[in-house]
Amino acid sequence: MDSMEINKGMAAILVAGIMFFLTGLIGMHLVTETRLEKPAIAIQGAPEAVAATGAAKPEALPPIGPMLAKADVAAGESTVKKLCSSCHTVAEGGKAGVGPNLYAVVGGAHGHMEGFNYSAGMKAKAGPWTFDALNAWLHKPALYIPGTRMAFAGINNDQQRADVIAYLRSLSHTPVPLPAN
Ligand code: HEC
Repeated sequence: MDSMEINKGMAAILVAGIMFFLTGLIGMHLVTETRLEKPAIAIQGAPEAVAATGAAKPEALPPIGPMLAKADVAAGESTVKKLCSSCHTVAEGGKAGVGPNLYAVVGGAHGHMEGFNYSAGMKAKAGPWTFDALNAWLHKPALYIPGTRMAFAGINNDQQRADVIAYLRSLSHTPVPLPAN
């Protein structure tokens, strides 16, 4: 084999390489992946793909007003003792645990406890904790604030959630007025 043929061989390999690279590049531009808003095929019983697009919408919950009107504060207190007190204190001036103290959280800012290390998502939430906001939050914390540090699945039962919110409302010298319904 003379050097001319070796050169031809090398050139062929080089051209093949370039073609390979170029077709890949062109293909990448021709075929763009689009994410579907909803799965194309609904699988029975499969959990919804939450926050895959970062735009998960909270479910429509029944209005909280009428449920607060008939809420049982004592039942709310016992639920909080059972489900929340492992992470939260409720007394005025109480210390933070895994979660922040909850005194006067209703009507307070998102991330209302001075000095607590809240998640970025919590810090980014504007506005006060309204009854509606708490309703959505306690229904599914991870849906209300994706990336929340509160490792709690949520309370499914609407009235139980309202009882808890009514109890949280009572943790204040000046409880926020109940919504007129
Ligand atoms: C496993 C621990 C844990 C449990 C259980 C838990 N929480 Fe939390 N909670 C947290 C943490 C941590 C945060 C801060 C979340 C963040 O920064 O994203 C938080 C935040 C909150 C906030 C917002 C506080 C603020 O200052 O803005 C409220 C309200 C709240 N929790 C209520 C409850 C209630 C009511 C329950 C029980 C039904 C509960 N939590 C159960 C850990 C917990």
